[in-house]
Amino acid sequence: MINVKIKESIQNYDEELKALRRKLHSEPELSWEEENTTNFVCEYLDNLGIHYRRTKPTGVIATIEGGKPGKTVALRGDMDALSVEELNKNLPYVSKAEGKMHACGHDAHTAMLLIAAKALNEQKNELPGTVRFLFQPAEEVAEGAKAMVKQGAVDGVDNVFGIHIWSQMPTGKVSCPVGPAFASADLFKVTFKGRGGHGAMPHDCIDAAIVASSFVMNVQTVVSRTIDAQKPAVLTIGKMVVGTRFNVIAENAVIEGTVRCFDPKTRDHIESQLRHYAENVAATYGATADVEYIRGTQAVINEEKSANLAQMIVKEVFGEDAVYFEKPTMGGEDFSDYLERVPGCFALVGSGNPEKDTEWAHHHGKFNIDEDALTIGAELYAQYAWNYLNK
Ligand code: NI
Repeated sequence: MINVKIKESIQNYDEELKALRRKLHSEPELSWEEENTTNFVCEYLDNLGIHYRRTKPTGVIATIEGGKPGKTVALRGDMDALSVEELNKNLPYVSKAEGKMHACGHDAHTAMLLIAAKALNEQKNELPGTVRFLFQPAEEVAEGAKAMVKQGAVDGVDNVFGIHIWSQMPTGKVSCPVGPAFASADLFKVTFKGRGGHGAMPHDCIDAAIVASSFVMNVQTVVSRTIDAQKPAVLTIGKMVVGTRFNVIAENAVIEGTVRCFDPKTRDHIESQLRHYAENVAATYGATADVEYIRGTQAVINEEKSANLAQMIVKEVFGEDAVYFEKPTMGGEDFSDYLERVPGCFALVGSGNPEKDTEWAHHHGKFNIDEDALTIGAELYAQYAWNYLNK
């Protein structure tokens, strides 16, 4: 059941919410450098009388203990910005930090979570259980959630809920389907070693450029020919460094890339195939291969009951039409580090509006949000916590 008082509060805090987001937007801080943002969050919580502790080196875990016993639900909002130059120079709240920008909307997440905390705090006596607020650093480098978890972020937590503002969805729509939402995101590095020599005498050498080129072409068939077409996967080679000079046969080649998918078995398969291809291609030419495969974030898979609860809330609070199905993205989100330990779900809140020019891609220098999405996000956070604890 929707809490009407929470709804009213958040409507009343509309202007404050916008102002909070604009302040955060104008003062972006990169991953692990969110010191002023952390201080700002702490001051805001101090003024509300909400207990919190700081995490190291940045980040905040706040807690509201309800007046009645019950479960514990965690709400997560990330806080970090990107090294992107903001191109919205005419905005009154344009980034004041050169080369840094809230180009993913994490400024909005922090502001929405603060206002959700304010509204929930007013209903504290009626609250059956505990709400924990995770103001997370360093999402963009996929390290913040892990660090928060290590510092006890989800210890004793029964359910976790997160939000991302989404410019590719219209304002007013919210997506939280059961199942996959974000892909796992891994990094790999392959180093081929051949034998260098004079560019005029390749027969005396093992050309690492040929080995690497052959690998780049062959490895494409891992996805196209060894994985069920019903199971989405991406294998991208983004970097290839080979050779030193036009008339020298390259001794070494280094290739870097990323692997994205939703299914853990597909992930294991791609990793083993990468090694297999690298070693066998190298062997064909008499070279050697060294493969480093670094697992990044897991896939974000929304747990069924939690996602159904979120959808029910969206229908009740914002109307049937607000429920949207956004297809899973091959992008990564370290919210999965919480979901690995605790059931929960992650919702996308639409902020795209062509009239306000807010449909730019996330991470683009012209990215901006339709601020009408802010109250939607703040209320969704608060109502999710309220409903989870009251169900
Ligand atoms: Ni983001």
